[in-house]
Amino acid sequence: MIDVINDIGETRRRMTEDRTAGRSIGLVPTMGALHDGHLSLIERARSENDRVVVSIFVNPTQYDDPADLERYPRTLAADVERAEGVGADLIFHPSPEDIYHDAYRYRVTESEFSRRLEGAHRKGHFDGVLTVVLKLLNIVGADRAYFGEKDWQQLQLVRDMAAAFFLPTHIVACRIIREVDGLAMSSRNIHLTDDQRKLAPELHRTLASKWSADEMTRHLASTGFEVDYVERRDGRVLGAVRLGKVRLIDNVQI
Ligand code: PAF
Repeated sequence: MIDVINDIGETRRRMTEDRTAGRSIGLVPTMGALHDGHLSLIERARSENDRVVVSIFVNPTQYDDPADLERYPRTLAADVERAEGVGADLIFHPSPEDIYHDAYRYRVTESEFSRRLEGAHRKGHFDGVLTVVLKLLNIVGADRAYFGEKDWQQLQLVRDMAAAFFLPTHIVACRIIREVDGLAMSSRNIHLTDDQRKLAPELHRTLASKWSADEMTRHLASTGFEVDYVERRDGRVLGAVRLGKVRLIDNVQI
């Protein structure tokens, strides 16, 4: 049976033991509600490391909307089973009080790219993400940490932070896992109504089209999405939309 550890000191002790024994460590940071996209990250970590740690922590500081934080699905028992099924060795499930024992007085702020795209629509979001990722990387001391390309901006910022602070962990980018109709897998998808779920793959179809960003925005708006942004950047087209209360993001390589 896989170990679920809440205690930060105990997790560090286990990780030191592994490192001392010469075992490599892969970390998959998650907020739980694991879907096949997360499982593919765990599988990749399994194939490249001796030990695979999955962190499950719904990070309060990356939410600017308390209702959104409240809505995030908490499914620990099912998550543990799914993670174990694809070869995770340990679940790290700390409490917010332990992670933020400093009451979030210390935080990581990136002052340029984090203010654009997602950051322009979710105030303080990337401060929360970068701060918790730095804490997790410091606690686990992984050789490699795995992030999905669906959260493309997050991936770039985490990579840049690792470089900026000379972190020893290698940040590994993993491709987007999609449903058969093209919708990028996300823990938020379960909140879509049947009608919204039918419409949702149109985001991917549109971003993969040959249209300009303006044409994509107009098309998405005319089919029923509220569009936060569609933007071309670094050889990708990135988009974020809302369907009712559910916010969807996706990106496609041009
Ligand atoms: O991508 C996520 O699930 C979260 O932003 C992360 C990286 C686990 C930090 O809370």
